[in-house]
Amino acid sequence: MATSKGKNETVTLIDNISGKRVDLPVLNGTIGPKVIDIRRLYAETGFFTYDPGYTATGSTESRITYIDGDKGVLLHRGYAIEDLAEKSDFMEVCYLLLKGELPTKEQKTRFEHDISRHTMVHEQLNFFFRGFRRDAHPMAIMCGVVGALSAFYHDSTDITDPRQRMIASYRLVAKMPTIAAMAYKYSIGQPFMYPRNDLKFAENFLYMMFGVPCEEYKVNPVLAKAMDRIFILHADHEQNASTSTVRMAGSTGANPFACIAAGIASLWGPAHGGANEAVLKMLGEIGDKKHIKAYLARVKDKKDGTMLMGFGHRVYKNYDPRAKVMQKTCYEVLDALKIKNEPLLDLAMELEQIALNDNYFVDRKLYPNVDFYSGIILKAMGFPTSMFTVLFAVARTVGWISQWSELIDDKEQKIGRPRQLYTGAEPRKFVPISKRT
Ligand code: SDX
Repeated sequence: MATSKGKNETVTLIDNISGKRVDLPVLNGTIGPKVIDIRRLYAETGFFTYDPGYTATGSTESRITYIDGDKGVLLHRGYAIEDLAEKSDFMEVCYLLLKGELPTKEQKTRFEHDISRHTMVHEQLNFFFRGFRRDAHPMAIMCGVVGALSAFYHDSTDITDPRQRMIASYRLVAKMPTIAAMAYKYSIGQPFMYPRNDLKFAENFLYMMFGVPCEEYKVNPVLAKAMDRIFILHADHEQNASTSTVRMAGSTGANPFACIAAGIASLWGPAHGGANEAVLKMLGEIGDKKHIKAYLARVKDKKDGTMLMGFGHRVYKNYDPRAKVMQKTCYEVLDALKIKNEPLLDLAMELEQIALNDNYFVDRKLYPNVDFYSGIILKAMGFPTSMFTVLFAVARTVGWISQWSELIDDKEQKIGRPRQLYTGAEPRKFVPISKRT
């Protein structure tokens, strides 16, 4: 589906040694930088491109999410994240990401109803949890259990059938909170809580996390609202590492449950979704405002290998717009919980201010990202640190599955198969073991 509106612009590439030249088409998106279409490059010149980490490579065309990293802009289907976080709710954002438009009232009611009918997991799945150690990291459990869904829902793994794809998408969005809460309950030895379909998405999640069967549990509406907003802020983010992993897995024709399990594994790393957990560990390690300068000195010392977690971003060279909303949400949550002084928040804000005025971070355009404040809120809400990345996965599932769906519909997509710059040994003769020295 690669589109190029307007003039037939090209870029000419000239090999300075052979003088050979090739004209490469330039593609224009709706907004954002122009893109050089290099698909014919190897066939016509014999050259590959080299771009570790894909810093200058667009792997796909997409209509879902747009980021202007210099201006700190994030749009889902054209709508600003600030508007969605303030005026919408997670179910509406899910509908928007999956279907391209905001729902009408009737469409929303229907969608919420349909999602709520998929919140339970197959009863047999409960036994999977028992195979894990009680001290297993919940992300390890998520990788295993979500991957196992493909063994249970055979009627939604045929990726050539749009209806099965849709059912798989709904199942994944609906079951992730249930599985996440089960992973937590298992770790603390409490019984699993069945979902309650009369509750809203975020409310039901908090109920399954913190309720127990022996007494009534009333979810604090301020916390439910905050949870919903945190889900919105994490819902999608263009071609990040985990989404690209989902797309790569999807490009082979793997079923959606397997693809999302791959995304969860990719999200786990501390450079990506694991950063929210790492931020709290870092704040704990710094311990006190008086140690900030010494910690930053370690961060700036390249030999030390310490990073300022929750800071920096491949795309944002300005404030991550989600971090701003997250900071505001942090105050609301602390207020609702009547926490007057949260030393971690004070420490984080002081750390942010010092870093934002330090030439190391200014020169490299390093700003707080979505993970910087989220951990403080989640901790105040009662989530253990090990669950932070799980919550990211719960929210990101809709983004992953929307991007996966787009990939399946995209006739231009092929199996993901990058090439390489080979720097290993040249061809050589096999030496029998008896003659090796
Ligand atoms: C997420 O991509 C997405 O969209 C991801 C995400 C999403 O919603 O899906 O937004 C979620 O993953 C947020 C990022 C969470 N990770 C962290 O908070 C971990 C800390 N951040 C860094 O590891 C880093 O900033 C990355 C991984 C986020 C981005 O890495 P890049 O784009 O490869 O940047 P880089 O490593 O090339 O950095 C450029 C320079 C380097 O210094 P020099 O070699 O030029 O001297 O900035 C330095 C880096 O060493 N640098 C940092 C730093 N981040 C970058 N130095 C100290 N602390 C940091 N956090």
